[in-house]
Amino acid sequence: MTNYSEMANGGITLIKPYQAGKPIEEVQRELGLIDVIKLASNENPFGMSPLAKKAALECVEQSNIYPDANGYYLKQKLEAKFGYDPKMITLGAGSNELINLFFQAFVNENVNVVFPEYSFVVYPMETTVNGAKAKAVPLKDYNADLDAILEAIDENTRIVAFANPSNPIGTAISSKSMHEFIKKVPKHCLVVIDEAYNEFNSGDDTYEDSALWVKEYDNLVVSRTFSKAYGLAGLRVGYMVANEEITSILNRQRAPFNVNIVALAAACAALDDSEFLAKIVENNTKERERYAAFCKEHNLFMIPSKANFVAIDFKGHDAQKIADALLHKGIIIRPLLGYKLQDILRISIGKPEENDRLFKALEELL
Ligand SMILES: Cc1ncc(COP(=O)(O)O)c(C=O)c1O
Repeated sequence: MTNYSEMANGGITLIKPYQAGKPIEEVQRELGLIDVIKLASNENPFGMSPLAKKAALECVEQSNIYPDANGYYLKQKLEAKFGYDPKMITLGAGSNELINLFFQAFVNENVNVVFPEYSFVVYPMETTVNGAKAKAVPLKDYNADLDAILEAIDENTRIVAFANPSNPIGTAISSKSMHEFIKKVPKHCLVVIDEAYNEFNSGDDTYEDSALWVKEYDNLVVSRTFSKAYGLAGLRVGYMVANEEITSILNRQRAPFNVNIVALAAACAALDDSEFLAKIVENNTKERERYAAFCKEHNLFMIPSKANFVAIDFKGHDAQKIADALLHKGIIIRPLLGYKLQDILRISIGKPEENDRLFKALEELL
């Protein structure tokens, strides 16, 4: 038989497929359970804003026509709400698509990519797919070590990629430290700040919107998503803010109608519903504190989180057994074996009653 793997480009065959959280239906089917909750993929447990839902439902009717290839109205909304210049915005089918496009555009076998150890798995995947060398920099106190990252950058470093807050760890770098860092990065090195969890990042007195720094720093790129706080993960829509030249490259490279018509309408409406967003963030902050209190009470180490999930170190217990046992109780969480973090389980923060159910199940297991 013809060996098609040998024909595939670059490093595609060197990577493993992305491992997504187990779908609820799969667990129901395989374990014969009815009442299953998923705290595994950092989704919004409350769904989407009622305004977004209304807009999406109305827009389904127009699905026979192509979407606006340039996403004019969504870009206008983003400018009105946050002040981003539409000429500096690329829209994507989730921020993941934009990160992929960005790596494909700028990374090749002659360059390296620097990222903190235990980064979002897509950065090492895209580095390898595009034939580049990955340089993972060890964390300091579970957070990105910015000084060590600066040291790791050499003349062949094309990209430094971070998630802030990070995934799967959940820690965040303050705006002040990030700003200082960006000033020091040489211009041949592009800095991608992946802010998928930005809306949940509370408690930083120095907070500034880093996407507005893009006007000042040519080599800075910021990605955001509607998948998490806005609750539109299934519709797939995100955006990347970058200088005009980079934006023009990404816009040439992407498929013409990459963001579907329903996603565009829902994202526009979601930006109008500040009340919904505030409720989501408030629940998350409150519940995150309950997770911290639970861990303290049960002598578990919860890594300080600024995201909509917590990473708990179950050292001394068998974390994988706990994950399996929770699955049999109808609770899907995320083991981090893929990240080589065998003692740590990542749990997405759910509704109060879902978190109660998890606490009770853990108490029974520990
Ligand atoms: C750090 C980070 N970046 C990007 C993404 C991609 O999200 P989406 O493609 O849904 O925008 C995720 C999803 O889990 C993530 O955790």
